[in-house]
Amino acid sequence: MKRILVLASGTGSLAQEIFDADFSGEGAEVVALICDRPDAQVLQRAEVRHIESYTIPMLPDRAQWNLELETLIAALRPTLVVSAGFMRILPEAITSRFRIINSHPALLPLFPGAHAVRDALNAGATETGTTIHWVDAGVDTGEVIAQEKVEILAGDTEESLHERIKIVERGLIVATIRMVLAHLESQ
Ligand code: GAR
Repeated sequence: MKRILVLASGTGSLAQEIFDADFSGEGAEVVALICDRPDAQVLQRAEVRHIESYTIPMLPDRAQWNLELETLIAALRPTLVVSAGFMRILPEAITSRFRIINSHPALLPLFPGAHAVRDALNAGATETGTTIHWVDAGVDTGEVIAQEKVEILAGDTEESLHERIKIVERGLIVATIRMVLAHLESQ
């Protein structure tokens, strides 16, 4: 069985879509969630779906946190790691060791980083969108796998635009997981 590990930090609406998807056709299943925030709603979503979850809050010593995260991921033996709203930059030791994809709320290489939706609005863009990409040690710099556009409407706020982007993201992340899994061997 191919093993999907989800990383998330917040509300978890993307994670929910992944938890709800049936990957049995791909010979895969979601085995666990790792979250860096003990108060994140995504933890409750995992509990409801009976998905094992692990919370690893940031430590004053970032190198120690990196090591704890790497050790935990290795113990879970993922075929594919999916970063779905995980708001931490992963260190090279992790990005080079595991196959990781990330969902980003902009059309990379435009608007990388933690404020992609706000940055697109502030730039006066007329469209933005979502990108699923392989994760490398840079900030949203890995190879693009799939993208989908979202129009920016007059009067859009960061919240209204982000909600429309997330609708598209939820479909694209699940479709991309299916596509990527077809090319990966279980461990
Ligand atoms: C999503 O829009 C995701 O692309 C973004 O966080 C949101 C999570 O929403 N991730 C990043 O910005 C990472 N740079 P959710 O908590 O409702 O799933």
